[in-house]
Amino acid sequence: WVSEIMLQQTQVTSVIDYYQRFMHRFPTLPSLANAEEDDVLAHWAGLGYYARARNLHKAAKQIQHDFQGNFPDSFEDIVALSGIGRSTAGAILSIAFKQQATILDGNVKRVLCRFYAVENWPGEKKTENILWGLAEQLTPETRTDDYTQAIMDLGATLCTRSKPDCSRCPLNGQCEAFKQNLQTQLPKSKPKKVIPQRHTWLVLIESENGARLLEKRAPAGIWGGLYSLPEFSTDIDEAELAKLCEQRFGGQFEYIEKHNSINHVFSHFKLELKPIKLKMMGTDLDSGKMTPEIKEPSSFYWFDEAQLNNIALPAPISK
Ligand code: ADE
Repeated sequence: WVSEIMLQQTQVTSVIDYYQRFMHRFPTLPSLANAEEDDVLAHWAGLGYYARARNLHKAAKQIQHDFQGNFPDSFEDIVALSGIGRSTAGAILSIAFKQQATILDGNVKRVLCRFYAVENWPGEKKTENILWGLAEQLTPETRTDDYTQAIMDLGATLCTRSKPDCSRCPLNGQCEAFKQNLQTQLPKSKPKKVIPQRHTWLVLIESENGARLLEKRAPAGIWGGLYSLPEFSTDIDEAELAKLCEQRFGGQFEYIEKHNSINHVFSHFKLELKPIKLKMMGTDLDSGKMTPEIKEPSSFYWFDEAQLNNIALPAPISK
């Protein structure tokens, strides 16, 4: 149980020392169940994915409470424990209890995708169900523990993600991927999402005394609540931007220069930010302000250089 949890998404060579230290410190189920969480985490420090350690500790308490400290030996009871899914339950049942139980971890998925030339991406639910079906058919009635360890080790040593060592593989005669020379193409990787590309003018407006005009963005949506630069649709011609700013903000604007685009990728779209620098003429000294009054003031503010360090700017805007 402990080794299977440590070996989730972690290679055997990285685990051995941790495993030995952990088992030395927590040699029995009560010693783990009664330990302080900090002590358990301290013995996990460096292995990563710390939820595994917290779940292991929680499961120890569950076993102490529900099963009088005896690790359960049925699939339903094991899979109900914290941190144990269908595949880990299968590994524990077959290796520790010598029962006929099936595993399907990442390594085994890769082996099966190649052995049966499964062309679909294994991360998809439908493909995963197909793989579980194949894994169950393959699981032998006897020596299930050896079979379980063997198929995991095959995935970890020969049938590796990159550069599988097919010439040394004892199963190459029956492997569909090897027969069709597809071993480096399978398993298929996650299909790439095509995300739309958007473009926007990003207008850096400076006052004559060097302040910059920023907009506090609406609380919802991208960069919600952060300060950003005014944006204009790229349907508008570059030459029209100064005029448009005059309509929007009042006052008088002068075109200064254009900068190279900044590309930013959001989860749902890519954005090309096209920076343009304009100057807003005049300083509103009459009203006692150092910067010109703007027509649309509700969400627009002037900031001088020093103030810019103290406000929340999205990374590409800060750049
Ligand atoms: N990964 C998860 N369980 C494993 C095991 N028993 N041997 C090797 N790698 C594993």
